[in-house]
Order: sequence, then C-alpha cells, then structure tokens
Amino acid sequence: MSNVVVNDKTFQPFISSEEIHERIKVMGKQIDKDYEGKRPLFIAILNGSFMFASDLFKSISIEAEICFIKLASYKGTSSTGNLITSIGLDESLVNREVVIIEDIIDTGNTLHQFLPQIQNQQPASLKIAALLNKPTAMKYPINIDYLGFSVPDKFLLGFGLDYDGLGRNLPQIYQLVNE
Ligand code: IMP
Ligand code: MG
Repeated sequence: MSNVVVNDKTFQPFISSEEIHERIKVMGKQIDKDYEGKRPLFIAILNGSFMFASDLFKSISIEAEICFIKLASYKGTSSTGNLITSIGLDESLVNREVVIIEDIIDTGNTLHQFLPQIQNQQPASLKIAALLNKPTAMKYPINIDYLGFSVPDKFLLGFGLDYDGLGRNLPQIYQLVNE
C-alpha cells in the first residue's frame, strides 16, 4: 500500500482494512454477549465515527437501536472553557442501555464534557465503544469499555477520520509522516 498526500501532508499506511474489520468483528461479538436481551441504544458521534459505527452495528446481531448526534463545541466566552452541545439527540435515554460510539479518543476532552449530559438523562447504563485511543495524549481519564486499537500520539487519517475535511473515505487508517 502506498502513501497518500492530503493538501500539504503525507500519510503512510498504518492499520489495514482487514485488521480493522477483524477487530470490529471481535468487538461486535463481545457486545452481543454483554447486551443479549437488553436492546441497547447506540449513540454515534458524527462526523468521524460514521464508518466505524456502520461496521460495528453490522457486526452486532442482537436487537439494538442506533442514533446519530453531532457535537458542537464553542470557544468559551467565559472561564468555563469549551461548551459542548449535542445536536439531534431526540430519543429519551431514561432507563436505556446506552453505548456511545466514537472514532477516536485523543485528549478525552470531548467525552469528558459530553458524558455528564448523557448521565443527566438517567440511562440504565452507559458504556463507550471507540475504534482508536491515544493513551499518551489523554488529559481526562475516560474509561473505554470496547476499544479497537491503542495507538501512539500521532495524527491519523482515513476510515472516517479527516484532515481538513478530507480523507474520510479511505478504507484503511494512515499515520502522518513526520517531515
Ligand atoms: P478529544 O476531545 O481530544 O478526545 O478528541 C476528539 C476528536 O478529535 C475525535 O473525535 C476526532 O474527531 C478528533 N481527532 C482526534 N485525534 C485525531 C486524529 O488523529 N485524526 C483525526 N481526527 C482526530
Ligand atoms: Mg469525532
């Protein structure tokens, strides 16, 4: 597999689509086992997670629902910092078995701010499924219940992840080549 260039940056192959699919299959089997008879509600966070969410959801064979939200963060005008609001979460989460689907957890900031909003809606349970995690970049500890790959703190592209809005359609994951 060869490198790809997006705008000014070069990326090299990092995780093949075969590896991704094998890993997602295993994650799906584990979720099947853990949620048998519980009809979980998956909440996929757009944009980055759409491809992972699609493949993970196909790998699950128990009864389950999925919905999609977009998180918008605003630069804080007050000392409270970034405010994260969800767009499109219409479902009631009361007493639901909720599983958040994220593409990548980097600093953990997004989920650190967003999870309390979900907890406020009193779900029966709340778990996290993430395809990727950069443990050395984590600033806010997030407990990831279903993790695809633990990766070094380098910028990644493909399989839903973008650089300047591009590269999401790449079927495998690439890593930034340091110049
Ligand atoms: P966090 O809030 O720092 O955990 O980062 C969350 C979001 O940043 C992710 O959901 C991604 O959309 C984006 N992100 C983090 N690392 C990368 C990367 O390596 N490539 C592309 N997007 C990334
Ligand atoms: Mg994201």
